[in-house]
Amino acid sequence: MATGISKHKWKEDSHIVSNEIYDGDYSYEISYPEKLPAQEIVETPNEFKYESLFNKGCKNKVLFGDNLDVLRYLISNLKEKIKLIYIDPPYGTNSIFQSRNQKSSYKDDLIGSHYLEFMRRRLIIMRELLSDDGSIYMHLDGNMIFQIKVLMDEIFGAKNFRGFITRKKCSNKNYTRKTYGNISDYIVFYSKTDNFIWHRATEPWSEEKMRKEYPCIDETSGKRYKKVPIHAPGTRNGETGKEWKGMLPPPGKHWQYTIAKLTELDNAGDIYWSANGNPRRKVYFDSDKGIPVQDIWMDVQDSLNQNIKMTGYPTEKNPYLLERIIKASSNKGDIVLDCFAGSGTTLDVADQLGRKFIGIDNSSEAIFNIIKRFVKGLKEMGDYVSQNHSPQFIQNSLFETKEKYSSHVSSRKEFELLSDTRHSLKAIDILIHFELIDKPVDQRNACNNALPVKNPIS
Ligand SMILES: C[S@@+](CC[C@H](N)C(=O)[O-])C[C@H]1O[C@@H](n2cnc3c(N)ncnc32)[C@H](O)[C@@H]1O
Repeated sequence: MATGISKHKWKEDSHIVSNEIYDGDYSYEISYPEKLPAQEIVETPNEFKYESLFNKGCKNKVLFGDNLDVLRYLISNLKEKIKLIYIDPPYGTNSIFQSRNQKSSYKDDLIGSHYLEFMRRRLIIMRELLSDDGSIYMHLDGNMIFQIKVLMDEIFGAKNFRGFITRKKCSNKNYTRKTYGNISDYIVFYSKTDNFIWHRATEPWSEEKMRKEYPCIDETSGKRYKKVPIHAPGTRNGETGKEWKGMLPPPGKHWQYTIAKLTELDNAGDIYWSANGNPRRKVYFDSDKGIPVQDIWMDVQDSLNQNIKMTGYPTEKNPYLLERIIKASSNKGDIVLDCFAGSGTTLDVADQLGRKFIGIDNSSEAIFNIIKRFVKGLKEMGDYVSQNHSPQFIQNSLFETKEKYSSHVSSRKEFELLSDTRHSLKAIDILIHFELIDKPVDQRNACNNALPVKNPIS
């Protein structure tokens, strides 16, 4: 694998034929009909009203409504206050989704430019809500990811593009179609600025991997170590290009350290000398912080097996995927937003990791599942359980810390429920169903505002 170095290091010692002369503007954008000016999108206020139906004033919020209008509603209080946004929106597949109990859950029926403009308007408002040190992750499949990447470059700036994650979403498929089995989906990651919250995600070493990566034992200290080169690509004329112990750096390379530092490392016994006199640095396992997570994620698939508790909402994401993202890109106490909340995976994990959450969904089935999850916890999906087999896929614990997300704790959450006032009765039904508020004497004549609200759950 070759790694490019700075273009200033080009030495004119090869001849490249090129007719590319360009001194124009480097920006680009995706174009389609009916693209509203960004300014107009930002300046349009929310059109509808939202009322608190339960636990008014609680910092954690679930809002029932169309997220474009709800996001606009949130701007007045939360402009630049959100630290992390994760969204798993419709994928532009032109299909509808049912939950495991056959209830219609949501429609994914916008396609082409209509889909792009739907997402663009929302992403522009999300950018307004994001704090300067905030980040946004958007999860999609191969259908629209590349158009969305260009759109995100346009809205958040190509320089703020931080990563393109490929996730293995399910087990291998036996496709009858004339193509490769589709087992991947994608997450694009942008920050709002250069100065964004970042805690590098790592995975713990397995004994086997550790022995392979750190194969040597130091004779004096007994510590496990690996040997790494002490030089790096590129020549230098200064200190790191000088002779050390009668040796120059290999051609085209320089020492990674100053001569003084190399001598210090050697005196401390931290340089390994091979039989033919080649120096290498000893890197000890006890200073290793874990295996840095790369941008292909094989270990957080949405496997439906007996190990995983879930709500049964369609396209429900693996909580450990959210654990990784939330821990990498937010701190305790930060506000995490998911405005395509579905079954509330992001909200649940954010809460368990000590963050505040705001969830929005326009499907009553999603709101039902979110509240079910908050009040009753998750359930193992019975028909996937095979008594005779051990699980094919054991969920990895990604972060071996005390505050690890636990899918086995059915913790009741504190949250406020707000609804678009035109649809409050539907939301009230859900609250009544979960006995969070009392059923009115005559439900037909129920007046939203007159409903007695029970004590907040804690
Ligand atoms: C792919 S699902 C999200 C699943 C979720 N990540 C989970 O783990 O359960 C997409 C969600 O976006 C919601 N949605 C679609 N259009 C919306 C809109 N305009 N406003 C609010 N929610 C919307 C759907 O109702 C659906 O629940």
